[in-house]
Amino acid sequence: MSSPVPISQLSRSLKQASLSPKKEVSTSPTSTYLDSAPRPRATTFDRSKKALKPFSTGDIKMLILENINQTALDTFHDKGYQVEFYKTSLPEDVLIEKIKDVQVIGVRSKTKLTAKVLSHAKNLIAIGCFCIGTNQVDLEYAADHGICVFNSPFCNSRSVAEMTLAEVIGLSRQLGDRVMEMHQGVWNKKSAKCWEVRGKTLGIVGYGHIGSQLSVLAEALGMRVLYYDILSLMALGNSEQVATLDEVLGESDFVTLHVPETPETRKMISTAQIAMMKDGAYLLNNCRGSVVDIPALVEALKLGKLAGAALDVYPAEPRKNGPDFKGDLFPELEELKSMKNVILTPHIGGSTEEAQSAIGIEVSNALSNYINEGTSTGAVNFPEVALRGLDWDQQNAVRILYIHQNVPGVLRTVNQILSDHNIEKQFSDSRGNVAYLMADISNVNLDDIKSIYEKLENTPYRIITRLLY
Ligand SMILES: NC(=O)c1ccc[n+]([C@@H]2O[C@H](COP(=O)([O-])OP(=O)(O)OC[C@H]3O[C@@H](n4cnc5c(N)ncnc54)[C@H](O)[C@@H]3O)[C@@H](O)[C@H]2O)c1
Repeated sequence: MSSPVPISQLSRSLKQASLSPKKEVSTSPTSTYLDSAPRPRATTFDRSKKALKPFSTGDIKMLILENINQTALDTFHDKGYQVEFYKTSLPEDVLIEKIKDVQVIGVRSKTKLTAKVLSHAKNLIAIGCFCIGTNQVDLEYAADHGICVFNSPFCNSRSVAEMTLAEVIGLSRQLGDRVMEMHQGVWNKKSAKCWEVRGKTLGIVGYGHIGSQLSVLAEALGMRVLYYDILSLMALGNSEQVATLDEVLGESDFVTLHVPETPETRKMISTAQIAMMKDGAYLLNNCRGSVVDIPALVEALKLGKLAGAALDVYPAEPRKNGPDFKGDLFPELEELKSMKNVILTPHIGGSTEEAQSAIGIEVSNALSNYINEGTSTGAVNFPEVALRGLDWDQQNAVRILYIHQNVPGVLRTVNQILSDHNIEKQFSDSRGNVAYLMADISNVNLDDIKSIYEKLENTPYRIITRLLY
């Protein structure tokens, strides 16, 4: 057994540990799964396949804003790209100046990539949104100009599921109220209307990435899980899918919402739905603010129909951190803030170090796969095209990436240009106004490649042509 460490020494070593630049993933005293799990790479390295790249990856210039996670910077560094990195977003005039020159820009939610800003980006081929949403980017303008946009919609599913589970217990034990009372110096030891969650029913509305993770976690606590989804989805564990929303509402002690924002989900929980819930049940909304009718919820809490609620998302949210979560955002906010057993959090369901790290890995890999191989799988505004690799020892081959307007006759023109050569494989897909063709051509020399490139560049409906070796 090792001898005990004196407190003075322990606090010194803890300070040193937290200053260490290597601890970038988590400052938690316990290690996270990311510390031990192997990090996914851009693609599984296959010795039989040739690694493709543009003429020179050193020529790929990236503008990376808003303090994107180190995992992404590591990927870009490994690939040899030139990265200009900023911790913040940039004022529009500076952004316009900087975007002129780069092939890739990486942003989070604060940088607005409007048509005006993008019109100055003469070399841009891809945008990485290192977040869930993409409404900060004019996706249509980007697609029409051959700019492929990637995001990371599901890397934080586990984080949301874990927080939801914490709130289920928090509501059941009135933890929020007790914590607030203690901070105000009030000792209020009580057990009335505080419950264990074991044996209670959790109703999940929307059994997608988050809902299904939550289902597994809740069953581990001994909860019964019911779920409702518009799709017929395989149940995990012992959970059960029910046919209607009414059924899930009527049978659950806790109802938790995990649906996307659509016209159908707008105010899907209002007075009529709350009336169907058990007396003294709890409602949790960690999906989108528009899904719950807030006046109906406030009324139900006032009447004691519901015993509590947890909200992470709101009909309107402040744009920045600070003391702006106030009544002018939406009318019932001040009343909601004053209510008992109501947990309010600032849209942090997905905000963990692990989620940020995973987002960095996913989006940077998508970007480098697109730059180096042309693969657009996972793009949000663009045809999704991928081609298996060229053989490892294959010389004199080139990969053609041809983005063009989606109009009749283009493929005939392109195939005429390529038909003098050996087309090993090709694939093409379209989405809206834009189409994307990938083709591997073998037995070509430099003059052939130059000629193919020039002919493709001169086709009338071309948007961007790229060649990879
Ligand atoms: N609080 C946060 O920080 C945070 C973080 C991530 C995601 N979210 C939100 O959580 C929600 C769920 O995310 P996800 O990743 O699980 O999405 P997902 O797309 O994986 O799952 C959504 C599920 O809802 C189902 N669905 C759609 N319309 C429905 C309807 N009318 N009735 C019942 N089911 C319906 C879909 O079939 C799907 O199975 C989204 O709204 C997302 O924006 C919030």
